[in-house]
This record gives sequence, structure tokens and C-alpha cells, in this order.
Amino acid sequence: MNQSPATRLSSVGPRGVRLAGTGVYLPRRAVTNDELAKTVDTNDEWISKRTGIRQRRIADEDETIRLMARESIRMALDNAGLAGSDLDFVIVATLTPEMVTPSTAACVTTDLGAAPAGAVDISAACSGYVYALNMAWALIKSGVCNTVAVAGTEKLSAITNWKDRNTCVLFGDGGGAAILTASDDPEQGSIYQTMHSDAAKSGELYVPRCERDLPPGDQIFTGEYNTLQMNGREIYKFAVHTLQDSIDKALAACGLKPSDLAMIIPHQMNARILESAREKLGLSSEKLYVNIDRYGNTSAASVAICLHELMAAGRLHQGDLVLFIGLGGGLTWATNLWRV
Ligand code: ACO
Repeated sequence: MNQSPATRLSSVGPRGVRLAGTGVYLPRRAVTNDELAKTVDTNDEWISKRTGIRQRRIADEDETIRLMARESIRMALDNAGLAGSDLDFVIVATLTPEMVTPSTAACVTTDLGAAPAGAVDISAACSGYVYALNMAWALIKSGVCNTVAVAGTEKLSAITNWKDRNTCVLFGDGGGAAILTASDDPEQGSIYQTMHSDAAKSGELYVPRCERDLPPGDQIFTGEYNTLQMNGREIYKFAVHTLQDSIDKALAACGLKPSDLAMIIPHQMNARILESAREKLGLSSEKLYVNIDRYGNTSAASVAICLHELMAAGRLHQGDLVLFIGLGGGLTWATNLWRV
């Protein structure tokens, strides 16, 4: 049975954190821009030029958040050569949990035979996965846990206003997961990380449940409660600034040049924003990962899916420096510079 060493923290020696395995769950149904254009006033050219998105996965009814989180963690455990019973803790980053309580993480922990491991959902929108990686690293580094599953899972289709072309073309469903475990090498794992929030501009991206939730003077509410409301231009400006600033600060704090990074894994919000950040850094296209063309913006799942694709393709090697960046609703933003 999983056993957290929490009661004997003083005896925990220097340790690192290893990425032991990753997994993914991608919904069966791919929806192209042309298909979307049959139901809302848009077209492939507008969507692909402005965002880089060509298709997204949309989960069917049976492809629940619980199922997607569970299956991505199951694949990550298999790839790590571990079983559910090896987990001390499970984190699911999501803004679309199955229920308010129990947490998706608690349900998945039991499904995987990992109970009574600790379990928690993290709600930090598109920054959620980087927040979760940071927290999982801290749990292991401190000796509170030995092995943690970190999933990022979203069913954004459930909170999308399918009549609002300003938002519905952007989002997709899916999930990714990683297993983090203690390593004998103290140099392995996170060498720099940040987590931030500032709700002053939270009204630019939000999901209201009732009239009381509408920000004073709101200009963007589409009239559909329980769906994502977004001021695209304001979020665009926030994303451009925050992405660049996060990269600059991480490099400066660690005394690194852009070319020292093996890979940047950013939240997939818009290919135009990602490409322009890459060009400013003078990096080749292989060094800043982009898969928004296939999945759209999957919020907390996007960094997790990217990480899995890179691991599965054998593109990350021991000793590589990888910079994770998340940013989104809250507003929130977070970074993690990781030595593989
Ligand atoms: N199809 C066709 N036309 C459209 C569509 C559409 N899907 N959506 C908007 N338009 C029209 C608008 O009505 C507008 O027409 P008008 O000029 O006649 O008024 C025109 O296109 C331009 O609209 P803008 O909103 O100014 O377009 P912009 O170039 O800003 O692109 C976009 C919009 C893609 C949403 C961009 O602002 C963006 O990427 N913002 C950031 C979004 C983001 O990252 N969100 C999520 C981050 S956090 C999270 O992931 C939860």
C-alpha cells in the first residue's frame, strides 16, 4: 500500500524529482473548422489564420472528466512501470470538474486502486497544470510524498456557448498526465518556479453561474450562464506580455540563454502568440512546442498533452532543460524550469 513518509520528514535526505512516465486521453471525435462552420458563422480561413487551430477533439457523453483523467494517469503509470498502489498523491488540474465534491482526483484515485492516497483538484484555469507540477514537485522534494500523479483534464465543450463564435472556435477537450517520483539525483526536477494570480482583470475571462457573478459594468456577457465569457483582445494582450515576461524572468533568474533550453512547453492559447515569442527568442521551431492545430486550447490539459507527445516521441532526454509556462483565467500564470 502507498505510504507517505510524512511522519519522518526530518530523516528525508537530499533528493530530486524524476519524470517517470506520461500518458494522454484524447476524445474519439475530431471536429474540423469546416464542420464548426456548419453550425456557427465562421470559416476555416479565419480560425486557422487568427489562432492556428485546424481541429479540436470534442468528448462524447461517456468520455467524462473522470474517465479522461483516469485513463491518462493509467497510461502514465504503465509507461512508468508503476501501479496505482504506488501513488501517494493524485492532483487533477481542471476548470471543468465532474462535481463540486467529491473531487475528480478523489474519484480517480479510487478507480486506480490508489486509495487512500491524497487527492485534490486544482482550479487555476489554463495555468492549472503548471501549478500542479510545481506543487507535486514540492511534495516530493520535501519528502511528504514519494510518487505523485499529475493530470490536466478538461471538458471545455461542456462550458462553451456554441452560438458564440468569439469563443466556441477556440476550445477543445482532452487530458494528459505525468507520474513524478523521487530521484537519488538532487539536480533532477524543478530548478526554478513561479505561481501568480491577480483578479483585477478576472472579468475578461470568466464563467458566471448567475447574475450576481457578472462583473460590474460587464461588456462581454453573451447571455448564457455557465459558459465561458472572454474578452479576446484583452486576453491576447495579457498572453503576449505574460509569456515573454515569464521566459525572460526564468532565464535571468537561472543565468541562462534561450539556446540553453532544450524545449519550451507553453500553454496552447494561440499559435500566433507562440510563434512571435519563439521568433523574438531566436529559437528554431522544434524548440517551442505547438500542437494547438490538432487540439485547440484545452486549458489545463494543454501543457500535459504537449509533455506526453514530446516524451512519447523521445524528444526529451535526461539532463535537458524544459521550461513549462501556463497562463489563463483568474488571471493566473506560472512557470517551471525543469531538468529532466
Ligand atoms: N469567425 C469569423 N469571424 C470572427 C470570429 C470567428 N470565429 N470571431 C470573431 N470574428 C470577427 C469579429 O466579429 C470581428 O469582426 P468585426 O471586425 O466585423 O467586428 C473580427 O472577426 C475581429 O475580431 P477580434 O476579436 O478583434 O479578432 P482577433 O484578431 O482579436 O482574434 C482571438 C480573436 C483569436 C480570440 C484573439 O483575440 C485571441 O487569441 N485572444 C486570446 C484568446 C485566448 O488565449 N484565450 C484563452 C486564454 S486563457 C484560457 O485558455 C482559458
